[in-house]
Amino acid sequence: MSLIPDYLSEYIDDIQPYCKGALGELQAQAYEENLPIIHNDVARLLAVLLEMVQPKRILEIGMAVGFSASFMCGYLQKGGHLVTIDRYPIMIEAAKENFKKMGVEDMVTMKIGHAEEVLAEMDDEFDFIFMDAAKGKYIEFLPHCLRMLRKGGLIVADDVLQDGRVAQKYEEIPRRQRTIHKRMNEFLETISNDPKLTSSILTIGDGVAVIRKRED
Ligand SMILES: C[S@@+](CC[C@H](N)C(=O)[O-])C[C@H]1O[C@@H](n2cnc3c(N)ncnc32)[C@H](O)[C@@H]1O
Repeated sequence: MSLIPDYLSEYIDDIQPYCKGALGELQAQAYEENLPIIHNDVARLLAVLLEMVQPKRILEIGMAVGFSASFMCGYLQKGGHLVTIDRYPIMIEAAKENFKKMGVEDMVTMKIGHAEEVLAEMDDEFDFIFMDAAKGKYIEFLPHCLRMLRKGGLIVADDVLQDGRVAQKYEEIPRRQRTIHKRMNEFLETISNDPKLTSSILTIGDGVAVIRKRED
């Protein structure tokens, strides 16, 4: 489901290029098989932001089959590196294969485990962080991401509008979705009101938040 009218999302989808070569094949296969990878319009947004930041160090939370990680490797500066986290062994095996196919295996470090635990153990510095896992935990990931993000760096968080449910009243949300609804609202309120951050919430894909760390 798109957050904007169908005619507009179809127009945007038609006009914006998809990935080419091996990455394009992985992208097409993933859409065909309903594997959980980023929307093409989110990839376009990442491309623009990554060209602006020119990162040497990228952190990704939520690797799946390695599509967005491989895509972002294309924007790393010379000698740059990407660290990506996932907890599912089946995803990790597929991602390993894909990193080899894309020729980026030497640029990527995979960390296996629950992101909340992995992040707590990490103490690196990053220029760019992409959050794309466990949407109910973004509020938990945020302090770790801000701790490791350099001043002036960007965090991009995917799927923050949850098919629009995030804007509904708490009482209207089915019980099983209430925790994620509450936590996502907390996340969006935090990034919108923290004076050390500049942020914007966009209706691209299923909602993307772009957050810049202005001050330490
Ligand atoms: C939407 S997919 C990531 C897609 C990927 N970024 C891409 O576009 O190619 C989300 C991934 O997050 C992983 N995940 C979910 N909860 C997690 C958690 N708490 N810790 C680590 N990984 C998690 C899932 O296994 C899944 O592979």
